[in-house]
Amino acid sequence: MRKFSDHGFVLLVLSLAAIPFCFCINSTASCVERDREALTKFQQSFQDTPDGFSSWKGKDCCKWKGVSCDDQSAGHVVKLDLRAKRLRTEVHFQATEVSLSCLLELKYLKYLDLSGNNLGDGPIPKFFGSMKQLTYLNLSSTQFSGTVPHHIGNLTSLQILDLSNQPLLIVDDLLWLSRLSSLHHLDMSDLYFEETLNLMQVLSMLPSLLWLRLSNCGLDETQFPGGGTNATFLHNLQSLDLANNGLLGPIPDALRNMTSLRRLDLSFNILQSSIPAWLGNLENLVHLNLSHNVFNSIEGGLLSILRNVCHLKSLDLSLNQFQGEILGTRGTLSGCTEYDLDTLRLVNSGASGRLPDWLGKLRNLKYLDFQMNSFSGPIPFSLGNLSTLRELYLSHNQLNGTVPESLGQLSNLTVLDLSSNNIDGIVSEVHFANLSKLEILNFALNHLTIRVKSNWEPPFQLKHVRMESCKFGTQFPQWLLTQKTITLDLSNASISGTIPKSLHGLHLTYLDLSYNEITGSLPQKFSDGMPRLDSLFLGSNHIKGSVPTSLCNIETLGALDLSKNRLSGEIPGCLKNLQNLYAVDLSSNNLSGVIPSSVGYLRHLVWLNLNNNSLHGELPSALRNCSYLKHLDLGNNRLSGHIPAWIGDSFEFLIILRLRSNTFNGSIPSQLCQLSPLQVLDLAHNDLTGIIPHCFDYLNGMQLVQYSTNQPESDQQGYDIDAEPNNKNIWQVLKGREYESARISSLGVSMDLSSNNLVGFIPDELTSLSGLLGLNLSHNHLEGSIPQKIGELKSLESFDISNNQLSGTIPMSMWSLAMATLSHLNLSYNNLSGPLPKVYEIPTSTSNVDHDSEEAGEDGYELLWSCLVVMLGFAMGFWGVIGPLMLNKSWRHAYFRYVDEAKDWIFVAVAVKMRSWRRWEEAM
Ligand SMILES: *[C@@H]1O[C@H](CO)[C@@H](O)[C@H](O)[C@H]1NC(C)=O
Ligand SMILES: *[C@@H]1O[C@H](CO)[C@@H](O)[C@H](O)[C@H]1NC(C)=O
Ligand SMILES: *[C@@H]1O[C@H](CO)[C@@H](O)[C@H](O)[C@H]1NC(C)=O
Ligand SMILES: *[C@@H]1O[C@H](CO)[C@@H](O)[C@H](O)[C@H]1NC(C)=O
Ligand SMILES: *[C@@H]1O[C@H](CO)[C@@H](O)[C@H](O)[C@H]1NC(C)=O
Ligand SMILES: *[C@@H]1O[C@H](CO)[C@@H](O)[C@H](O)[C@H]1NC(C)=O
Ligand SMILES: *[C@@H]1O[C@H](CO)[C@@H](O)[C@H](O)[C@H]1NC(C)=O
Repeated sequence: MRKFSDHGFVLLVLSLAAIPFCFCINSTASCVERDREALTKFQQSFQDTPDGFSSWKGKDCCKWKGVSCDDQSAGHVVKLDLRAKRLRTEVHFQATEVSLSCLLELKYLKYLDLSGNNLGDGPIPKFFGSMKQLTYLNLSSTQFSGTVPHHIGNLTSLQILDLSNQPLLIVDDLLWLSRLSSLHHLDMSDLYFEETLNLMQVLSMLPSLLWLRLSNCGLDETQFPGGGTNATFLHNLQSLDLANNGLLGPIPDALRNMTSLRRLDLSFNILQSSIPAWLGNLENLVHLNLSHNVFNSIEGGLLSILRNVCHLKSLDLSLNQFQGEILGTRGTLSGCTEYDLDTLRLVNSGASGRLPDWLGKLRNLKYLDFQMNSFSGPIPFSLGNLSTLRELYLSHNQLNGTVPESLGQLSNLTVLDLSSNNIDGIVSEVHFANLSKLEILNFALNHLTIRVKSNWEPPFQLKHVRMESCKFGTQFPQWLLTQKTITLDLSNASISGTIPKSLHGLHLTYLDLSYNEITGSLPQKFSDGMPRLDSLFLGSNHIKGSVPTSLCNIETLGALDLSKNRLSGEIPGCLKNLQNLYAVDLSSNNLSGVIPSSVGYLRHLVWLNLNNNSLHGELPSALRNCSYLKHLDLGNNRLSGHIPAWIGDSFEFLIILRLRSNTFNGSIPSQLCQLSPLQVLDLAHNDLTGIIPHCFDYLNGMQLVQYSTNQPESDQQGYDIDAEPNNKNIWQVLKGREYESARISSLGVSMDLSSNNLVGFIPDELTSLSGLLGLNLSHNHLEGSIPQKIGELKSLESFDISNNQLSGTIPMSMWSLAMATLSHLNLSYNNLSGPLPKVYEIPTSTSNVDHDSEEAGEDGYELLWSCLVVMLGFAMGFWGVIGPLMLNKSWRHAYFRYVDEAKDWIFVAVAVKMRSWRRWEEAM
């Protein structure tokens, strides 16, 4: 056998299993009456079974479906195969026991398969142990529970035992297993193994074992100890699957002797340190899966492992934590005349270094996936030798250089994904010369220039095209109009001219032409060729004219982005036909008129952005029907009237509410406090009057998560600052892009009520919004003092209360904020007075400042300020003059840099963090 195909191996095992019973298939014997009675009783004890027993009629039970007899045993039933027959017993497991006990009458039964039937939730009946003649027993997915009865150990003829996929079944002791000396195939995956078992000891008493699967059994390395065990069984084992357990430490050395091994699966464990070079000595390996562990290197590099494993077909090393170069770039792949490897996966595993030329020697490779690593340097020309290659994924690395022309020779390639690298140069017809089977092409986010003849007829029919950020420098490419493309992303691709009148030929569900130089108006019959369009992104172009009503014919449309164009006219009322719309962005156009009340028909709307247009009038009350809204931005228009109280009642999922720069009047309705997921509230630059509601402490979305040990996680409210706020950015998910998320997070969790006519105090309740990054209350008529607990706004980066009539002193806690997180503070134009509080806390670490380095070294003025504050704070503990105090990031940076560089012992002491600072003060 030159090649060991794994398939072949399975067949081998199955045929071994089949030898004892194959002769019964053409049996002419009619069944023994006693067996028939047993089967009839068995049948009757089950409830209605649609698949099971319809053919169980007539005298000759040997002809019944799933039943086989055997000449040599004179018409006795030897095989019962009831796999997945939807058998269903009474609710009580005792009933199951009674049903199954009928099988005890079948004295010659060798093969019993009850897998995939729901046999109730009771324990496996002990009497299974008395069916001594069984050689095959399959109870996989039968939903038994309790402990596995040791009586199974009486089945000493058993060759194949499958108890897998019964998560409620517990294995408390395995000594019984050691009595199954004929066993060559054992599957106990998805059972729960109790901790104390020494599996190695038990398994070494099973000399015939060839095939062992114990995945997802909660095993740890103590149950599978590496050394010191007499594990002779390992010599014979051909397949070992220990995936999805808790094995920690290096790969057990004992496996070194598994020279017969063809399949080894250790994925989803916690295996660490180096992948040992001796794996390369397991010359019979066909499948090796080490993915999802924490390996950090490969001894001798991948090259040394691959060198002699000629028959290896699939290798998965994804999701590890490799550091540095692991492929082995020195040397070349020799040792086998041919390598069978057809699948090589190394996804998201931290690997770096260059891609070696020897990859081109894996001539049978069909699937190469190196996504999401840190590979750098050029794509090797030799990849063009992989003539059998079907899918090539090199995205999300740091590859540079040009696309090798040799890739154009990969005539079986269906997927070519080079996205998110630093590849540059020109891509022309040559690169696609023989790619006649290409279906998915992803060149997005590189520095590629696409230059093909305008009359080029591509050899392929692409289904999915992503060319985001490629440079076309032309009009919409004609060759794409010949494709039956389903998704097309040509955003930021320097495409000019107008949108083609018809995109008939394409079968688009997704079209992204945003961030181009597209001019002209939207074609009136735009919709004709796109009856299944789901997402349309045309934002950031120069499109003029009105929103064509023909858009309303694309009933499948879910996301519509026409933002940042020069659209004028009114928002068409017929948009109500687009019942599937969930995201609409028409912001930054010249749209006028009112918000049509038909918007209320868009029940699935989650995202509505009409910011920066010239819309007027009041908010249509129909809008309240859009109860799934998460993002509502109507800022920078000429909307008027009160802020409706129903906003608070209707939008229980709202995360972002922006109504800034309109002419809303009246007071802020306290119903807004019901918007508990809200993270951005921006009502600035309106004509709002009255007080700030005292209920803003209900806005859980603006609070840090309170972790509490006796609260289940689901009860936690508010957001976790480390995690992304839930669904914060559909746009990002939608487009898989980062710049939109940058835009949202630049808003951060914030409240802006500035430039209104608000009166009264700053409510204490505001200080419970501990997740706020920005709080702007400036340019109002607020009075009273700054709340004492202002320091509880632990995340605050920007705080502006300037231009009010606030009085009193600045609370102590404010200063701790200034030191910890604030980068912008404006207290100017108030009547604040009195001493500046003592500097009583210095941040414990300077690391949070480092990322501000882009603003570093701005000017000496900032530096001076920082010294002064520190000096004064240090020497006197207070500062009697309150003036406009502006802090920004460079201030903080300068401050810490100064501290770092200072030689003076005082400043060094400051730098040595808070402890010494406090102590020093106490000593004064
Ligand atoms: C039936 O089985 C016998 C052996 O018992 C074998 O010789 C014969 O070829 C089989 N017949 C068929 C049709 O498979
Ligand atoms: C047991 O039955 C299941 C189907 O229910 C099957 O997938 C599995 O391969 C069988 N086990 C053996 C060892 O034949
Ligand atoms: C089967 O095994 C159990 C426990 O392992 C034992 O108690 C029992 O005597 C055995 N029964 C037979 C019939 O051998
Ligand atoms: C290992 O176990 C096998 C079978 O159980 C036995 O034959 C052999 O002598 C043992 N070897 C050692 C070194 O203990
Ligand atoms: C591997 O097998 C050899 C004998 O074949 C033995 O000497 C050695 O100790 C075994 N190594 C391990 C780790 O079991
Ligand atoms: C492409 O794939 C087909 C079908 O799998 C295969 O027959 C053919 O040999 C492959 N072509 C090359 C160049 O490997
Ligand atoms: C590619 O990147 C490497 C560093 O990763 C650099 O040394 C090399 O000059 C770059 N080559 C090109 C063509 O940009």
